[in-house]
Amino acid sequence: MSTSEIRTGLQLRSLVKGSGELELSLVNAAVPEPLADEVIIRVEATPINPSDLGLLFAAADPNTATASGKGAGTVLTARIPEEATWGIKARLDQSMLVGNEGAGIVVAAGSAAPAAALLGKTVATFGGGMYVQYHATQASRCVVLPPGTSPAEGAAIFINPMTALSMVDVMRREGHTALVHTAAASSLGQMLNRICLADNIGLVNIVRSRAQLELLRGMGAAHVCDSSATTFQQDLTEALQSTGATLAFDAIGGGTLASQILTGMESAINRSAKGYSRYGSATHKQVYLYGTLDTGPTVLKRNFGLAFGVGGWLLTQYLAKIGPAATAALQARVLAELKTTFACRYTREISLAEALQPELVALYSRRSTGGKYLINPARPMDASPDATVRPEPPLLS
Ligand SMILES: NC(=O)c1ccc[n+]([C@@H]2O[C@H](COP(=O)([O-])OP(=O)(O)OC[C@H]3O[C@@H](n4cnc5c(N)ncnc54)[C@H](OP(=O)(O)O)[C@@H]3O)[C@@H](O)[C@H]2O)c1
Repeated sequence: MSTSEIRTGLQLRSLVKGSGELELSLVNAAVPEPLADEVIIRVEATPINPSDLGLLFAAADPNTATASGKGAGTVLTARIPEEATWGIKARLDQSMLVGNEGAGIVVAAGSAAPAAALLGKTVATFGGGMYVQYHATQASRCVVLPPGTSPAEGAAIFINPMTALSMVDVMRREGHTALVHTAAASSLGQMLNRICLADNIGLVNIVRSRAQLELLRGMGAAHVCDSSATTFQQDLTEALQSTGATLAFDAIGGGTLASQILTGMESAINRSAKGYSRYGSATHKQVYLYGTLDTGPTVLKRNFGLAFGVGGWLLTQYLAKIGPAATAALQARVLAELKTTFACRYTREISLAEALQPELVALYSRRSTGGKYLINPARPMDASPDATVRPEPPLLS
């Protein structure tokens, strides 16, 4: 099949102008004829993850956005504060594609056998540029979804599921026996909780409200610590002693939480210390900052000895490090447990044009518990948001 009947498709583009104005718009772009090893996917589902919001809005506050035009002609603009432009100079005046992962139907394929075999299949892929109606990619970057899986069910099989599984992989490879996770009521956190319960791994979940604590307890979590409670540091230390966790993945990044976790680990370890050491315990304690939910500085109050590490962590870099065979093993588990362990709930499915409506921007950019949105680029541009597509209500408002 060729793309001769599919000449153009809409693409959501994010542009930061040299003047400091952010502009989001839909561009009608030519759909290329696939090369021999390529396919064209009609994208039908692509999630809005926290990492997508960073590229989409740059340093602009989504709540200040205004829109003009209608449907496919909608243009959203927002101001980027002068002091925030230093980190985005490299992207000034470049119209950028957005959307890390998604799924859809292969509607055209190149002549090479692996590409041709995908024609008509429902596939998922990642690597950027998924907020488009038609996405061209190499066949080798596609994963065929199991029979009976819709694009919506397979749209988010890469980023959160692979990250949650990788956290457990890091724990084993780096010699730890249990884990700590922050912002633990997140979509990813709920997956990690299910993995740890199934694999009998100690997990200390840190959340920031009583409602989130109850949510995770209701999902079987044994250790949930609420950072808004006055007893937080004490609760955390108890949970750390009980699990023996010396490895944490922190999605928040800014503030003192990473420091409080290291302090709690050191206190828990010292409860069984044989004597005093002025350098602290010899047990290595590690926190990986893997998200930026709080963009402020990371503050370390160094009262946890010298056997510690604080570093950054990114899925793609980790998968490159462990190699294709280990990556494929993680991916196989995701596919096998797609509708259970790695199921992702969405609040709403919206069209590309609706993704540019300020009232919806204000909702999906909150990154709130149970508030994830799914873009369906195949959805008619003038459709109104349809909460009935996903019957489940948000877990928390
Ligand atoms: N490094 C990597 O390779 C990688 C890969 C995948 C995901 N991630 C990161 O993983 C995190 C979770 O992603 P997700 O898609 O699962 O998120 P999500 O479902 O959108 O949930 C976000 C969660 O973060 C909480 N939150 C938001 N701002 C917060 C803050 N300032 N302090 C504390 N909690 C806050 C929200 O709680 P409220 O309801 O209380 O706001 C909510 O529970 C994100 O930070 C994402 O960037 C990183």
